[in-house]
Amino acid sequence: MAKGAYILGIESSCDETAAAVVRGGEELLSNVVFSQIATHQPYGGVVPELASREHLRGIVPVVRQALEKAGKSYADVDAIAVTQGPGLAGALLVGVSFAKALAFSLEKPLIAVNHLEGHIHAVLLEEKQKGNRELRFPVLALVVSGGHTHLYIASEQGEHWSYELIGRTRDDAAGEAYDKVAKLLGLGYPGGPVIDKLAKHGDPRAVKFGLAQMKAPARGGKKTAHPGEMAGHDFSFSGIKTAVLRYVELHQMKDEIETRRARLAGVAKPSVEDYLAVTDKKTLGLIASFQHAVVEDLVEKTLAAAREREVATLFVTGGVAANSELRDTFEKRGAQEGLPVYFPSRPLSTDNAAMIAAAAYPKFLARDFAPLDFSAEAGLVLK
Ligand code: KG4
Ligand code: ZN
Repeated sequence: MAKGAYILGIESSCDETAAAVVRGGEELLSNVVFSQIATHQPYGGVVPELASREHLRGIVPVVRQALEKAGKSYADVDAIAVTQGPGLAGALLVGVSFAKALAFSLEKPLIAVNHLEGHIHAVLLEEKQKGNRELRFPVLALVVSGGHTHLYIASEQGEHWSYELIGRTRDDAAGEAYDKVAKLLGLGYPGGPVIDKLAKHGDPRAVKFGLAQMKAPARGGKKTAHPGEMAGHDFSFSGIKTAVLRYVELHQMKDEIETRRARLAGVAKPSVEDYLAVTDKKTLGLIASFQHAVVEDLVEKTLAAAREREVATLFVTGGVAANSELRDTFEKRGAQEGLPVYFPSRPLSTDNAAMIAAAAYPKFLARDFAPLDFSAEAGLVLK
């Protein structure tokens, strides 16, 4: 029975309310994501209070839909898994309270999952689903999203997974840089998907962004908190964001940005053509150069870490892993180095609950259940 265990996953850490049913950590039966993008769009970023309110509105229908699509009832589910953290405290609390109430009333085990572990298991879920059981360890995982740019060495001993953090961003996450640059250029929220599409129309060599902008700042003589800082696998994306701002000021682009912002505000769901109609060649060059610099930095530093730690496999996951240039570059350079690189499909790259249900499966087998009085943890660390 355990092999075929059905796990209902629930995710509410940021701006997506999600539920999914996954069997045995490898068969996706349903994956429902209710995105709050439209709610947060007018503010150019996620507003925590609005996120909690939207999760409250969405959680019941989203969970019901996930069960319906999977053709399962509450009684068929063997365990309930929920994101414990990291994320927005109020947002996490909605998922955690709901999952606790479900587990209590259905008398089913409850499993607490770290959101970042979920992103890593999104890759495993899909590889297992495809029948790939040949993944070699050690695995290096780059989790690159709106909140994180973290490098982990992932190991598996029986049912137990452990993670060693060997690098992270010192300031902004890569996805955050995408979102801030898009906002600055009047392109709306979230920035990643728009920049991804527009970068294809610009010259990536138009603006020179150097390594200096993305050099992780020195720690000012302080003792380092983890070995990654010593090994130089840290990232920094706040410098390039400032460089984009300086370019905008220097080239007096403010007026055209305001015009673009106003024109896009009048379109409900702008298409690529809508964006292209209000974006000139210089801005497209800036966008393509920004993306190219970020991608080069992510790929170079990750592959350097892979070489140093002699890993056998690379996972690239999280919202920014949906980026086409990032995928192409990792695939090309990984192949040159003989390093297999795996990504989740695009729907499983961004936040979802299938990854939470998948990450919960080894814990289900190990009977690693959460007590009903466990709480959401906004700053939960992955170990
Ligand atoms: O994993 P995710 O859904 O949520 C977090 O855990 O943060 O990631 C969201 C982030 C946002 O910053 C968004 O702009 C970025 O992922 N993103 C992308 C793309 N799609 C989403 N960034 C670059 N290219 C994309 N295609
Ligand atoms: Zn995420």
